[in-house]
Amino acid sequence: MDNNRYKISPLMAFMFVLTLTTILNSYSATAAELETYIVHLNSAKGQGFDQSQDRETWYQSFLPSTTTGGLTDERTMVFAYHNVLTGFAAKMSAEQAKAMETMEGFISARPQRKYSTQTTHTPNFLGLHQNLGFWAGSNYGKGIIIGVLDTGTTPAHPSFNDEGILPPPAKWKGKCDVAGCNNKLIGLRNLTGISEEHFDEDGHGTHTSSTAAGSFVDDANVFGNANGTAVGMAPLAHVAMYKVCTLEDCEESAILAGMDAAVEDGVDVLSLSLGGESLPFYQDGIAVGAFTAMQKGIFVACSAGNSGPFNSSLSNEAPWILTVGASTVDRKISSTVSLGNKALLDGESLFQPKDFSKTLLPLVYPGANGVGNTAWCAEGSLDDVDVKGKVVVCDRGGDVGRIEKGQTVKDAGGVAMILANEATEGSSTIADAHVLPASHIGYKDGVAIKAYINSTTSPLATLMFRGTVIGVESAPEVTSFSSRGPNLASPGILKPDIIGPGVSVLAAWPVSVENNTQTSTTFNMISGTSMSCPHLAGIAALLKASHPDWSPAAIKSAMMTTADQVSLNGRPIEDERELPADVFTIGSGHVNPSKANDPGLVFDIQPDDYIPYLCGLGYTSQQVGIIAKKTVSCSETILEGQLNYPSYVITLASGQNKTYTRTVTNVGEAKSTYTISVTNVHLPPGIILEIRSPALKFTAVNQKVAYDLTFIRDSKAQMNVPYAEGSMAWAYGKYVVRTPFSFKFI
Ligand SMILES: *[C@@H]1O[C@H](CO)[C@@H](O)[C@H](O)[C@H]1NC(C)=O
Ligand SMILES: *[C@@H]1O[C@H](CO)[C@@H](O)[C@H](O)[C@H]1NC(C)=O
Ligand SMILES: *[C@@H]1O[C@H](CO)[C@@H](O)[C@H](O)[C@H]1NC(C)=O
Ligand SMILES: *[C@@H]1O[C@H](CO)[C@@H](O)[C@H](O)[C@H]1NC(C)=O
Ligand SMILES: *[C@@H]1O[C@H](CO)[C@@H](O)[C@H](O)[C@H]1NC(C)=O
Ligand SMILES: *[C@@H]1O[C@H](CO)[C@@H](O)[C@H](O)[C@H]1NC(C)=O
Repeated sequence: MDNNRYKISPLMAFMFVLTLTTILNSYSATAAELETYIVHLNSAKGQGFDQSQDRETWYQSFLPSTTTGGLTDERTMVFAYHNVLTGFAAKMSAEQAKAMETMEGFISARPQRKYSTQTTHTPNFLGLHQNLGFWAGSNYGKGIIIGVLDTGTTPAHPSFNDEGILPPPAKWKGKCDVAGCNNKLIGLRNLTGISEEHFDEDGHGTHTSSTAAGSFVDDANVFGNANGTAVGMAPLAHVAMYKVCTLEDCEESAILAGMDAAVEDGVDVLSLSLGGESLPFYQDGIAVGAFTAMQKGIFVACSAGNSGPFNSSLSNEAPWILTVGASTVDRKISSTVSLGNKALLDGESLFQPKDFSKTLLPLVYPGANGVGNTAWCAEGSLDDVDVKGKVVVCDRGGDVGRIEKGQTVKDAGGVAMILANEATEGSSTIADAHVLPASHIGYKDGVAIKAYINSTTSPLATLMFRGTVIGVESAPEVTSFSSRGPNLASPGILKPDIIGPGVSVLAAWPVSVENNTQTSTTFNMISGTSMSCPHLAGIAALLKASHPDWSPAAIKSAMMTTADQVSLNGRPIEDERELPADVFTIGSGHVNPSKANDPGLVFDIQPDDYIPYLCGLGYTSQQVGIIAKKTVSCSETILEGQLNYPSYVITLASGQNKTYTRTVTNVGEAKSTYTISVTNVHLPPGIILEIRSPALKFTAVNQKVAYDLTFIRDSKAQMNVPYAEGSMAWAYGKYVVRTPFSFKFI
């Protein structure tokens, strides 16, 4: 990707977003139509406001109440920001936004984007055990505050019981907009402005917040499955929920308001299971807000997106964010398809009825007629198909929810559903709370079932429910929906950064999925990078508790350089779409919390180090200023690859060489010497790596040592692929500090 595409004038940038947003929201913005605009003002003018009142008065001056042609100007302030940006969100028309352009101190105004939201067993799977090791050593995240921006949460849920949890630290300034907060759930802010009966109509935020820091709850299960102790990653940490999403959507103005409040309130970690499409960082509210958080020492984890397995499908690509992909855990909720030809095919379903037919039933694939909607079991598509009393095969995809497909089958009189992956989804299956007996199976198994249906005049099948199976040795595997690189907004930074549990994760839920009533202990199993993000946020809280002096970049580096490369079976982590998992899929690898606690060396980055990097992306000084919240003059630029990042993207033409400098900080033993051995360097054919420092010698903790790496592409070597990958690791005693390489050949 060419950096030039970001060298656009401010006016063009404004028009670009306007067009994009209009297309995305698929309505034509007439002059009279009011939209929420995000307005950026010049930071220099915004400095020196001691009283928030002065600032808001200044903001308000951009929205004069005028009367034109007998019509009152309807522009109204939605949010006035104090931390994450100098500016505000206001409802106005495109013409009114344009009218502000001439006002002094104005930088930009653009319609807001819409973002989308994308056990219990997982701590053990990640090597966290009660009273042992890192979990005990980090005091379970005691005293750390995790801010979660989501759909809200459920205060009365036992996952938010505060037994044994101390009051929040004195720095905490947040508050609760509703009753029900305690020492676990210390903050609950409503920033949506939408009327909803409960504080989390959706359930998503209850799930993510309990995954990050839920308290211990015994006998947690769904339909009796996955029974065990439910607990978040940092059970003694505090949770502050910023409700920025409704059942419908997540508005950028509310997300910015949530981050603004979280920074003010004093959170230590932020978890955002939210994302939109790739945009330059100064136009991406999450990137802009996360930068301020990072400047204040707050660690920010975000979901990578659920738009996989397609290339360049990532959200949240900024280097100051930890971008988290989704992988499986070693647990399946088994539902086996038994065919009339005696074949048995393993699938999954969370709903496991005890009394399902043991005898074979008629089996049908309505999609055999070649109609997409029928194959996908879209709503109403089975009305003219005889599925009564039958087991129905539905294909995954077609923009129809997996559970919705089952509802269509049920409505049409079908008795069970076999949900078959399409080719791109490979063997990625999910245990969902289906509304009827079901089995979600992989692509190849689906093809086998369809071939069987073709082979006989009376195809038959039934489902056998085998409950919870632990110890699936191929885990972790990357699931098909996890978004992939390459990074579009900053092609020289490798993303995603890391993967963590995001498939069939059990955590708190506001209502019973069995009967939709509110009961005391309700859980649900859902899937998404939305689920992997709070795992990493919780682990960041543990690391922060055990290393209060580590910067966000140091915490991130510790997680990335120690991430696992192999699954339980000892083989390289696989991609469930039946390909090897490449760096664009797993980034640095699968998080290993205990190793992250003792990484030996870290690649640290100071907030101001990002400024020459942002200037190097071709952004104007003003655009960088929007992100950095200060006056920036882009006199100094660095290439993306010169940021002190714990991974590399190396673009090389034939015969070309490139040199990268990195600086590591010793957080391990004072006297230590890290070396490189041949076994720790992996390079694709035709690439030579020159390391002029064969050893990094340290005599003190926190000592920094810099070194250069030169990558040379042999002009004689024939490169038949556009991309390749590799890695290197510095090693000393038990420490292995690994950094992955992604090569692009041009
Ligand atoms: C959130 O705020 C909006 C607007 O003030 C209000 O209508 C809604 O009821 C609030 N939601 C909850 C759950 O309090
Ligand atoms: C869950 O496990 C607990 C403790 O082992 C047990 O008492 C309880 O009956 C189990 N619940 C279910 C639904 O299996
Ligand atoms: C992107 O997708 C295509 C087609 O699936 C594939 O050939 C290519 O290697 C992928 N990866 C990258 C990094 O472009
Ligand atoms: C089954 O038969 C249909 C129609 O004859 C054909 O289109 C399809 O490819 C066959 N499927 C398999 C898996 O053999
Ligand atoms: C709904 O299901 C839950 C289990 O999740 C059970 O405890 C509760 O009693 C059920 N409520 C009703 C009204 O059936
Ligand atoms: C790297 O490239 C430069 C020219 O771009 C050349 O002068 C230098 O010798 C090369 N170094 C190596 C190690 O190939």
